[in-house]
Amino acid sequence: MPAQRTFDLVIAANRLPVDAVTGADGKITWRRSPGGLVTAMESVMHGREGAWVGWAGEPGKAPRAFTQNSMHLRPVRLDQDDVVDYYEGQSNDCLWPIYHDAIVPAKFRRRWRTAYERVNTRFAEQVAKVAAPGATVWVHDYQLQLVPALLRKLRSDVRIGWFNHIPFPPVELFMQMPGREGILEGLLGADFLGFQRKPDAANFLRACRGLLDVTVRGDVVHLPDGRSVRASAVPISVDYNGLRELAGDPAVQQRAAEIREQLGDPKHILLGVDRLDYTKGLRHRLKAYGELLQSGDLDPSETVFVQVATPSRERLAAYRELRGQVELEVGRINGEHSPIGSTALTYLHRSFPRTEMVALFAAADVLIVTPLRDGMNLVAKEYVACHADDGAIVLSEFTGAADELSRAYLCNPHDIDKLKQTILQAMHDPPGEHRRRMRSMRRTVMTNDVQHWAEDFLTNLQAAPHKPKGHR
Ligand code: ADP
Ligand code: F6P
Repeated sequence: MPAQRTFDLVIAANRLPVDAVTGADGKITWRRSPGGLVTAMESVMHGREGAWVGWAGEPGKAPRAFTQNSMHLRPVRLDQDDVVDYYEGQSNDCLWPIYHDAIVPAKFRRRWRTAYERVNTRFAEQVAKVAAPGATVWVHDYQLQLVPALLRKLRSDVRIGWFNHIPFPPVELFMQMPGREGILEGLLGADFLGFQRKPDAANFLRACRGLLDVTVRGDVVHLPDGRSVRASAVPISVDYNGLRELAGDPAVQQRAAEIREQLGDPKHILLGVDRLDYTKGLRHRLKAYGELLQSGDLDPSETVFVQVATPSRERLAAYRELRGQVELEVGRINGEHSPIGSTALTYLHRSFPRTEMVALFAAADVLIVTPLRDGMNLVAKEYVACHADDGAIVLSEFTGAADELSRAYLCNPHDIDKLKQTILQAMHDPPGEHRRRMRSMRRTVMTNDVQHWAEDFLTNLQAAPHKPKGHR
């Protein structure tokens, strides 16, 4: 058997950038995986000779290793019970709610934690096989928090970084989790830990100080074995140049014009783009829009709302329930307010190609982003990249993006009256005000794009536990 090829850069993430779909004839086709992690890491890996270790999205035997767009994909097997207990259970019914302010109650099951350890071990073993001597290994997100320590045991020669795409919870919430010390110890196997925002890194450091026998000085955790681990904020971003290029493409501009026309050439197009997730504040947004139509502040013959709601985690009760509630509300709003022959609210529950998403962003006058908690929210930054001087964003204060996009129309989505006022202000402010706000946000996204984020992360990782000179 030929020796397995090894790589100087290895990414480990729960999902590969593509999901396998096995047809009735047993043939596999591939489609893009959902979520911001994939959007960001796809652009980062483009042109770098690296391996990506992850699950192919279906239970059972892992497909064979393959190469796509210069990315060397190395699928990890998840059996049906791994999917139920590690992915749906521990990752998405326990960690996800705890890390998002317990918007829905978290569930704790011993079986899930065992599966989490089992699958994290499998990931660490797979990474250990494909990492070249002295390689850089970049582990991603809350599904793989034990991988850093497990990998260090197998391969003490590699440099290990971990980045959390979602928030890190306050210690009072984190403490609820059985096995909480194990998670911190798992993460502390890394050399550098990256978080979206400073408060996320601070929450992690506080949890270490409170729950482990370690010393924390500044942003460095000193372990009893003499190792030190740095934890710091490195906010993720989007492929600004790629998006600008697409938005400037005449075919995409033509498509944006067509979308406007198909929607009846309204005066205002409002847009929401989210995975159908309870963290995204979809119900709050629909409530505000419904009330604005009801009160006559918005006229459905002049304004349309397009909500793209990507299917997500559909086997979990909380997600099924949310889908039911959202679709009921969409039906109610359209039933009560749509003029004959058009709809006040266009609801699209499916995935679209990148060009179609860019055309939608370009066509929209106001983007509405109302998460109750969100690590970053790349959609907001994508909208900025797709607009020149026009457009506006209503943006929840509870997103990581709000730190950098402070010229958006910031809102508290829990305050429906204020949210309604903010939507109206964003719609009716003069073009000069939109221009000033969008220009300022564009400068931010252009300077801090996804390549800058990746370089920043990797430089921090190489310098850890020291802070690299000239870096934040
Ligand atoms: P999350 O990672 O929680 O899903 P983000 O806003 O950070 O949220 O990232 C979502 C990513 O998925 C963005 O790149 C967005 O453009 C993309 N996306 C969202 N909905 C769709 C869809 N229906 N079709 C294609 N891409 C989508
Ligand atoms: O960035 C948040 C995130 O959870 C990613 O880890 C994940 O890939 C994405 O959202 C979509 O979720 P899922 O992989 O569970 O479909």
